[in-house]
Amino acid sequence: MSELPKHLPDEPSFHAGCCHSLSKQLITSLDHVFSHTPGSVLSIGSGAGLLEALLLANIDALNIQAVEIQDSKSLGINRYMPEDLMHYVGGTYDLFPGAGTAATWLLVYPRDPRLVAKYLEHFQGGSLRQIVCICPRSEWQRFEDIVRDSSFKEITEVEDSGLQAYEGTFVARLP
Ligand SMILES: C[S@@+](CC[C@H](N)C(=O)[O-])C[C@H]1O[C@@H](n2cnc3c(N)ncnc32)[C@H](O)[C@@H]1O
Repeated sequence: MSELPKHLPDEPSFHAGCCHSLSKQLITSLDHVFSHTPGSVLSIGSGAGLLEALLLANIDALNIQAVEIQDSKSLGINRYMPEDLMHYVGGTYDLFPGAGTAATWLLVYPRDPRLVAKYLEHFQGGSLRQIVCICPRSEWQRFEDIVRDSSFKEITEVEDSGLQAYEGTFVARLP
């Protein structure tokens, strides 16, 4: 496992192996969003797992797990999340069967809206209460269209979520 950065920056800044910018404010914003919906968080497509490990280290009693694809494991893509909190699937369109027990899904720079559509098709109606998506604003529309087609119709953007101006944190909840 790689060591977590000792200090989080005040201003959103980039870190090797992480697609989005990181800041103290991002962790605070996500803490606030997660606390709205008690229960576990599942990060789908966690990559190196840096954000997830920072959330784990900075938010008291946060129950967060993550899922990545198996090929990525052999390439050692997960560098920060404890392995006992990781789950692996076989390929790009495979679903983690335990996803229905999470209260929140965290999608950080998801690549393909079809995977989100597939997850919603299979797991809507379980424990899931909110979906949090961090992505470039220019890409959100592709994911919003999918989410709007589901029961998660209460969609907001978190103000000042601690990202670069071109990025956003979007939250979809059940009405
Ligand atoms: C653009 S990367 C984002 C990685 C990380 N969240 C970040 O922001 O740095 C998308 C990640 O989704 C993973 N992924 C793709 N399909 C997946 C699936 N079906 N289940 C889990 N992870 C998947 C990829 O392996 C990749 O690491």
